[in-house]
Amino acid sequence: MYICMCQAVTEDELYAAIKDGAVTLKQLRKCLQVANCCGGCTERVKACVRGALKRQAENEAVLMALLPEQAQAAPV
Ligand code: FES
Repeated sequence: MYICMCQAVTEDELYAAIKDGAVTLKQLRKCLQVANCCGGCTERVKACVRGALKRQAENEAVLMALLPEQAQAAPV
């Protein structure tokens, strides 16, 4: 499904960029060119970023809850 019609950017491409570390609108504009033309996708892009970051935080919280305390305190 396309997130940005003007630049033909799909939802999968957007989530891949977010996973690779582009988590601000400025960063996503730079790497995918989203929201650079009509701007009609701006709110959809922001919603995807918020959703992806929320899911990532929830997954990390679950992982931390499952790990023994010793593993959580170990240096990385
Ligand atoms: S739909 Fe993304 S800039 Fe137009």
